[in-house]
Amino acid sequence: MEKIVIEGGHRLEGTVAVSGAKNAALPILISTLLTEGLNTVDNVPDLRDVRTIKSLLSDLGAKVETSGSVVKIDAGGLNSYEAPYDLVRTMRASVLVLGPLLARLGRARVSLPGGCAIGARPINLHLKGFEELGAMISLEHGYIEAKARSLKGAEVYFDVVTVTGTENLMMAAVLAEGITTLRNAAREPEVVALAEALNCMGGKIAGAGTPVITIEGVEALKPTSYTIIPDRIETGTFMIAAGVTCGNIKIVGSEPNHLRAVIHKLQQTGITVEEEVDGLRIIGTEAISSVDVKTLPYPGFPTDMQAQFMVLMCLAKGLSVISETIFENRFIHVSELQRMGADITVSGNAAVVMGDGRLTGAPVMATDLRASASLILAGLAASGTTEVSRVYHIDRGYECIEKKLAQLGGQLRRVPA
Ligand code: EPU
Repeated sequence: MEKIVIEGGHRLEGTVAVSGAKNAALPILISTLLTEGLNTVDNVPDLRDVRTIKSLLSDLGAKVETSGSVVKIDAGGLNSYEAPYDLVRTMRASVLVLGPLLARLGRARVSLPGGCAIGARPINLHLKGFEELGAMISLEHGYIEAKARSLKGAEVYFDVVTVTGTENLMMAAVLAEGITTLRNAAREPEVVALAEALNCMGGKIAGAGTPVITIEGVEALKPTSYTIIPDRIETGTFMIAAGVTCGNIKIVGSEPNHLRAVIHKLQQTGITVEEEVDGLRIIGTEAISSVDVKTLPYPGFPTDMQAQFMVLMCLAKGLSVISETIFENRFIHVSELQRMGADITVSGNAAVVMGDGRLTGAPVMATDLRASASLILAGLAASGTTEVSRVYHIDRGYECIEKKLAQLGGQLRRVPA
C-alpha cells in the first residue's frame, strides 16, 4: 500500500498535458470484441482500470498488445463469454462486455456487480434493454446469464439517463437485425466517442450526443484505428488544482467543449479560464466566490467533478450548496475534508459548505476515485502536511497524478504506507 504525502501552500505554475479519457477508453477497448482482426486504439491512458479491462479481454480469448499509449487488440480468437466475479468486483465497467458478447456470441455470463462506495448502482436498465432486443436474462449464483439466438432492433426507453447503459445497448444493437432507437440516452462525450469508434468499424449509429440514438444493425463490423478523446475529468481536476493554489497553469490537449458547465462555474467563482489554441489557461484568484452546484447528466455539471469542486468551495468565502443528483452516497469525502477543518453539513443529497478560505493538513483517506482526487487537491491548498492513504483508488483513473502535479510545482510524493 502507498500513500501520497503533500506539503500544501505552493502555487501551481507551468504546463501539464491531459491523458486519454478513462471512461472513453474502457468501452472502446471492449467494443473491439465486436470485430475479428486487428484494432488499434491510440491515446489509451495507463490506468489500473484500463489494465483490468485488458486482462478481461485476454481472458475472453482476445490478443492484446500494448506499446506506450497504443493498444492493439485482435478478438478473432474470442472463446469465452464469462466475466468472473473477481474482475467485476474490482471494476464495474466490466459489465460493458455484456452487449458485445451477446451481439457476437449470443451469450454472456457476467458477475452482477454489487453495491459500490458511491451508491447501489444497479444495472437493471441495461438488462431491460437487452430483453427488449430479444435476449433472455436470468440471475444464477450471482451471475447474469444473457442468451439470444438473434438480437432484433427495438425501441428502448431509459427511465434514468445511464452512461454505461447507453453504451452497452449501442454495442448490442450495432449487430442486431433492424433498427434500434435508444430514448433518453446519455449524451456524454464518451458515448459520442464510442458511437464514432463503432461507426469507424462500419456501424450505422446516428444521433449520439442527443437523447435519441438510432442504430441500424449491420451484419458484421470490421477492425479499425481510433484515438481516445482527452479526459475531461482529469482536465477539470487540474483546473481546480490551479484554482485552489491560486496558480497559473496551462492544460494542453484538453477539449473545452466537453467542459462547458465546469468552465462556467469556475468563471463564476472568479477564476480566469482562457481558451488558447492548444489548450486552456487557468488563473486562480485570492478571492474565490462561493457558487452553488448541482450535478446532472451531461451537459450538466458532472458528478465526477463534485468532490473536487467542493474543495474549491471550502476555500471560498461564503456559503455554497452542492447538490448531488446522480449517486446517492457520493459525499464520502466530506468527513475527510472536515478533518482538514472544512465546515460542511450534509442534508440528504445536498452539502452546505461554509467556506472560510482555508484548510489545514491532516492524514486522510477515501474509498472512491474522485473523492481521493479531491483530497489531493485539498492537500495542495492546505497549510502543513496532508497524507492521502489508499492511493490505489487514484491509480484507477488518473495517470501519474502526483508526477503531473509535481511538474507544476506541487510539493507531493508517493511513499510506502
Ligand atoms: N442507474 C440505474 N439503473 C441502471 C443504470 C444506472 O438506476 O441500470 C442509475 C445509477 O444508479 C445512477 C444513475 O443511474 O444513479 C446514473 O448512473 P450511470 O449508469 O450513468 O453510471 P455508470 O454508467 O455506471 C458512468 C461513469 C462514472 C460516472 C457516471 C455518471 C464509466 C465507466 N463510469 O458510470 O464514472 O460517474 O457514468 O456520469 O463511464 C468515475 O469515472 O469515477 C465514475 C464513477
